[in-house]
Amino acid sequence: MASGIKLSKDMNLFESYGRLINPAYPSFLNKLGLNKVATGAQGATITDSEGNTYIDCVGGYGLFNLGHNNPDIIESLTDQLKEQQLLTKPLISEIQVRLAECIEKITPGELSCSFILNSGSEAIDCAIKLVRLHRGGKTIITAQKSFHGHTFGALTASGIPSFKRAFQPLLPGFISVPFGDIEALKQSISADTGAVLIEPIQHEAGILLPLNGYLQKVRKLCDEHGLIMILDEIKTGFGKTGRMFACEHYNVVPDILVLGKSLGGGLIPTGAVIAKSHLWKRFGLSFPMSASSYAGNVLACRAGLSTIRYIQQGSLLADCAEKGKMLLRSLRDCVGEYPNILRSAEGLGLLIGIETQSGKIALELAKEMIRQRIIMVPAFGNSSVLMVEPPLVISFQQIRAVVDSFAAACVNVSNK
Ligand SMILES: Cc1ncc(COP(=O)(O)O)c(C=O)c1O
Repeated sequence: MASGIKLSKDMNLFESYGRLINPAYPSFLNKLGLNKVATGAQGATITDSEGNTYIDCVGGYGLFNLGHNNPDIIESLTDQLKEQQLLTKPLISEIQVRLAECIEKITPGELSCSFILNSGSEAIDCAIKLVRLHRGGKTIITAQKSFHGHTFGALTASGIPSFKRAFQPLLPGFISVPFGDIEALKQSISADTGAVLIEPIQHEAGILLPLNGYLQKVRKLCDEHGLIMILDEIKTGFGKTGRMFACEHYNVVPDILVLGKSLGGGLIPTGAVIAKSHLWKRFGLSFPMSASSYAGNVLACRAGLSTIRYIQQGSLLADCAEKGKMLLRSLRDCVGEYPNILRSAEGLGLLIGIETQSGKIALELAKEMIRQRIIMVPAFGNSSVLMVEPPLVISFQQIRAVVDSFAAACVNVSNK
């Protein structure tokens, strides 16, 4: 192996993964007929140890907007390693400042100050801390069916009960309302409220778009009541919806924007919290020092800068919007043809959910797709929705292959 890690040839990696790392994940893959070990990945494809190549419609759950092993990002990271301008703690590194400047330029409105962390969940926790710093112990309103991550703060903020149940008691100071219901949000605001934390598009519950001006209305309520508006764009950021950030579609600027996933170019773990400068005033020494040791490390910053440059220099965003429209149109044609198994297809850019008639049907369709070498899986928070979220570098030809295979899968499943 290129990594130099020696693994015994006859070791059954799949079984060992289950025994040593996580028993649940191999069973999940088994159920889908995807009990394979990856040997390589490039662009929008993954290859398994038997030499099968799959079109990846999972996109690393948002990690691989720029594709798997993007050569430009690899080259920039290799250069950074060769230059040996790596961690300099306790001194500051120039590249971290360059990334902060770049983030200030590409984020909308007056968002300006940023802090780089190691994951989306950490960045969400950091945003929660910012609220606590500025609004004391006031409550944060979140949305039911949301997903914000696995750390205790992020998990508390998440709105999928099955993800949280085993870990009670979680943090105090959160309440949740249905996503998209502005009246419910209005009713839940009191003198005790400090902030609202939502995703612009909910994904774990299937794809829920913010309809009827929902985001603008949330912004207005936050302004009227002096609440901090936080948008979690960990999944939707960096081009997934055809714009750099999903909030741009709705002309809404949050007070705090949380990013992650593809910021690391699909190669380096990272997350970021970006806020308007007045919220940064109390960002004292004890606050950054509670962040973790590798936060803002040079490789993560280089990956972030290269990712942003890559998106800005090419036509990735416009292409993503066009590819997304083409894919959604074709999937909706399938919905029209197979109402016995499909209910709807919704999405923006290359973040699409196909709502099927049941979890069983979604699983059958996923298995059919995998048999045809296209990886598509049901949403973790809603088993009846099949998620279609390929890397943005997927080609038009690959999209046609996905659509043709999906139509064939629909024939097979509806005839069962
Ligand atoms: C919307 C959203 N927020 C937060 C997270 C957590 O990010 P991470 O897995 O990097 O901790 C995720 C991860 O799936 C996510 O999709």
